[in-house]
Amino acid sequence: MKLILLGAPGVGKGTQAQYIVEKYGIPQISTGDMLREAVREESQTGLKVKAVMDSGALVSDDIIIDLVKARIARDDCKNGYLFDGFPRTIPQAESLRSQGIDIDCVIEIIVSDTHLVSRLGGRRLHPASGRVYHVEHNPPREAGKDDETGDSLVQRNDDKEETVKERLSVYYEQTKPLVQYYQQMSMQPGASLRYHAIDGHGRTEEVRDMIFSILDT
Ligand code: AP5
Repeated sequence: MKLILLGAPGVGKGTQAQYIVEKYGIPQISTGDMLREAVREESQTGLKVKAVMDSGALVSDDIIIDLVKARIARDDCKNGYLFDGFPRTIPQAESLRSQGIDIDCVIEIIVSDTHLVSRLGGRRLHPASGRVYHVEHNPPREAGKDDETGDSLVQRNDDKEETVKERLSVYYEQTKPLVQYYQQMSMQPGASLRYHAIDGHGRTEEVRDMIFSILDT
């Protein structure tokens, strides 16, 4: 099973990815998590992308495409994977096509901008695992600590209000065109790709159940 979770910053892609990984046993490929890890490790890629990420802009397509190519060549991707935050531009989507990668299902999660700003402002992250919390909607058992390891949670640099606004405008300009791109692909005669748009305003478990019912049919 090869899936794409599509949607603006904060719609819950990372949150839902955790449920999908657990139930279907496929790895989550989050380009955002991979880039943040590179920044933490101060690798060559990390040094190149830090300022771009902090500003809310997109990292260049060639860096992302190389990262993803290397990741999907690994053994754990043999039976499929879940893309979270990739592709984010038409050239990134075209790179999958040119590698002959057939996506089975694209799920677009839709949430209004007002909710997104509040979700991102309250988000806390466990950097080592990628586990995501929210101070109100999904708090950890102990404030500021990861449930499994007890490590301190952090707030992302790009979750400041001005940067969130920039990320949203980048989304509408550069990523939203993928909605039409994949909808059209799903309507081609004989298409194997399925496209579904779901309302992401409900509780995380409600959104999870909508996704599971799509994936189980
Ligand atoms: P990335 O890490 O991919 O960020 P994003 O797409 O902006 O998405 P987010 O991680 O912010 O949100 P999400 O949808 O995963 O929401 P989450 O589940 O955390 O990218 C960061 C940067 O890296 C980019 O800006 C760019 O610079 C670069 N980058 C990454 N990929 C790239 C690419 N392919 N090309 C170019 N550049 C790239 O949820 C958000 C909050 O809401 C959490 O606190 C959560 O607990 C809460 N929440 C979730 N669901 C619900 C719910 N149903 N109800 C209430 N609260 C909820």
